Amino acid sequence: MAEFDKTQWSEKDFAYGYLEAADIYIVERRRFLEILKSFYTHFLGVKKQNRVLDLGCGDGILVHELLKIDDSISATLIDGSEDMLNKAKERLAGFKNIQFIRASFQELLHTDLHLSDFDLVVSSLAIHHLTLDEKKSLFSYIYSHLNPCGYFVNIDVILPPTERLENWYLQLWKEQIIETQTALKLEDNYGDIIGKYKESRDNKPDTLSDQLNALKDLGFRDVDCFYKYGIFTIFGGKK
Ligand SMILES: C[S@@+](CC[C@H](N)C(=O)[O-])C[C@H]1O[C@@H](n2cnc3c(N)ncnc32)[C@H](O)[C@@H]1O
Repeated sequence: MAEFDKTQWSEKDFAYGYLEAADIYIVERRRFLEILKSFYTHFLGVKKQNRVLDLGCGDGILVHELLKIDDSISATLIDGSEDMLNKAKERLAGFKNIQFIRASFQELLHTDLHLSDFDLVVSSLAIHHLTLDEKKSLFSYIYSHLNPCGYFVNIDVILPPTERLENWYLQLWKEQIIETQTALKLEDNYGDIIGKYKESRDNKPDTLSDQLNALKDLGFRDVDCFYKYGIFTIFGGKK
């Protein structure tokens, strides 16, 4: 856990601060979840007892959304944060066949956790905390832990290809946050999240093309960006 413990995610207040405000500053969060559910229904099909792995699960929101449309799922949720996993355990308390594992991605890559294979690996807003080399290793790990024809879907922030585009995407993000704040009549100012996002050493986004190429190089098929809005993307592929 050495690497993870150096990040802000190891601090309870930081983790809980994210959970409280995520729906405000991840402006398209609900849309991402709807797209994930559409992808799941379309490509995996419900009531098939699919095995799902969520990497960087936070409070378990992704698996919870998938369970709403398919309660035959068995899921493994992994996160480096004990506090996040406790929230996920609370959230998913009523469901069967759910396993929680506290491990950093770095540990996952270097320790054999004896995980069996999955039909779907999902992740949301977590893998950008790894360097490009670590991302490639994690993508390879995912590939090797997918059943034949299994899918990987990653909802994540990316590094735009030019500074000009990045400046516009970040401005767009800020405008959207302010619009949400105004609509909800919130007093707190969430607009400064963009500066914090850019300054944080924990954020190591890479370009979409580097990550799509990494997936293709590993042998993933149907690799594509399934949705994009500014720096926010949903991308992945099929084994
Ligand atoms: C922005 S939150 C996203 C949580 C959840 N997936 C969501 O969409 O709400 C990032 C999550 O990744 C976890 N995380 C960050 N770096 C990690 C690492 N190196 N290993 C394991 N988990 C990590 C954090 O603890 C946190 O729960």
